[in-house]
Formats: sequence, structure tokens, C-alpha cells
Amino acid sequence: MEIIIKKDAHEGSCAAARVIAGLVRRKPNAVIGLATGSTPLKLYNELIRLHKEEGIDFSEVTTFNLDEYIGLPAGHEQSYRRFMNENLFDHINIKTENTHVPDGMTADVSATCAAYEQAIVDAGGIDLQVLGIGSDGHVGFNEPTSSFASRTRIKTLTQQTVADNARFFDGDESKVPHHCITMGIGTIMDARMNIMLAFGANKAEAVADTVEGPVAAMMPASILQHHASAKVFIDEAAATDLKLADYYRWVYNGKPDWQKNA
Ligand code: PGA
Repeated sequence: MEIIIKKDAHEGSCAAARVIAGLVRRKPNAVIGLATGSTPLKLYNELIRLHKEEGIDFSEVTTFNLDEYIGLPAGHEQSYRRFMNENLFDHINIKTENTHVPDGMTADVSATCAAYEQAIVDAGGIDLQVLGIGSDGHVGFNEPTSSFASRTRIKTLTQQTVADNARFFDGDESKVPHHCITMGIGTIMDARMNIMLAFGANKAEAVADTVEGPVAAMMPASILQHHASAKVFIDEAAATDLKLADYYRWVYNGKPDWQKNA
């Protein structure tokens, strides 16, 4: 794992955006996995800026989002399809038909999940997956004790995740759907590269457990220790519990730019 500690969320997001921009320049038809939540917002703002000001071309890019709530129509203000349209897709030149978000209104969840997995395979697999991390260590909506071998499927949110996400639903936990469709941990581990973003003090413990703790289903993100190409972009607040923070800074600061952005 490569740990990149930046001053704040803006700098961390810009560093992550440079990695994505580098991929799209090298491989214009890249397949990119995307995440929702508050964490990737600055990353998406920077990708929009790179598109508008530096001509990064998304016209041949394909995307797959990690997850979607079950029971929220695509137009619902908290659906992840709407989030992606409003925060990224509507502002870059990506083709709508190349963007994929699980269908949370499907009548056949199993068939929808299997088709989502197949669509990823048919697209050639995910080149780069963007991840956030829940305060309980989830990636996508793979909550603690999720199988490391899991594929896209229905999951039940933990009560902690329901409480965390109530802020998007007028602070009302009863409005937060309890079920979702999420890529599995096996799906995420198949991506050729994973980049995780985590900002703020409330992520510090989960980040330390992910990076320096044992690999354990109780901390789903810790499986990234087994991924050959995983980068973790964090700010100083999220780095406070890391034992080897100075080492990670030393490593990153010693790298040439081409390696930082690869
Ligand atoms: P957040 O969520 O970005 O809103 O903190 C992260 C996650 O739940 O994966």
C-alpha cells in the first residue's frame, strides 16, 4: 500500500485526480470505478476542472459505481445515480450510456447483480477503482464481516452506517434505506488499481486499522493490504493514528513526479 498524506482534503483530492487524469491520458477508454458520499466531492470537482481547463477527455471512458440504495428511484435526491449526474457526469463529456450505477429499483436483485458483474467483465475489467471508507471500515457498502470473496449483491447497512448517512436525509435515520446493492470485496479486489480517499479526524481510526492493522473481515478495507496496487490519499487529520506516518511522508516526498502520478 502507498500512503499519501496531504495537508488537507483539497490537496489529497488533487493528487488523486492527477492519477486518474494520467490513466485517462494513457488509456482514453479506461474503465473507472467510482464512489459516492462526501469524500470524493473534491476529487470530482478537480476532474471537472481538468476536463474544462486542461482538456481531459472522458468521451471514451466507462464508469461503474460501487453501490446504490435499494428502493430509491434514480431521480431521488439521495440516489447515487443522481449524485453522480449532478456532481460529475453532467459536467464532463462522458457518454451517459457508458456510466453504470446499480439499479436500486430492480424487481430482480440477483439478476441485476449478476448482470452488473458481467458488464464489468464485458468492459474489460476496472482499471482504477475509487474508494471512500466508512467510519466502520466499509468499502462500497461491504460492512464488517463481509466476505472477502463477495461479488455484487444485496447488503444490509449497519446501524452505524444508517446513523452516519442520516445527515443526507434531513438527519432522519428512518428515511435512510437499510438495503443496498454493492460491488463485493472480490469485485473491488479485481480492479487493477485501487485508490482510497479518507479525510477528517473521524476516519483516523479506520485508516490506521486499514493500513497498519491485521487483515480482518471486521475491517473490510484492510483487504487492500493484499492488493498489489493500492494508494491511500489522506489528510493530516485522518493520519493522526498512523504509527509510520513519518515514513510514508519520507517515501512520498522522495518520489519523482512521474512516479507520484502513476
Ligand atoms: P463519506 O462516506 O465519504 O460520506 O464519509 C464514505 C463511505 O461510506 O464509504
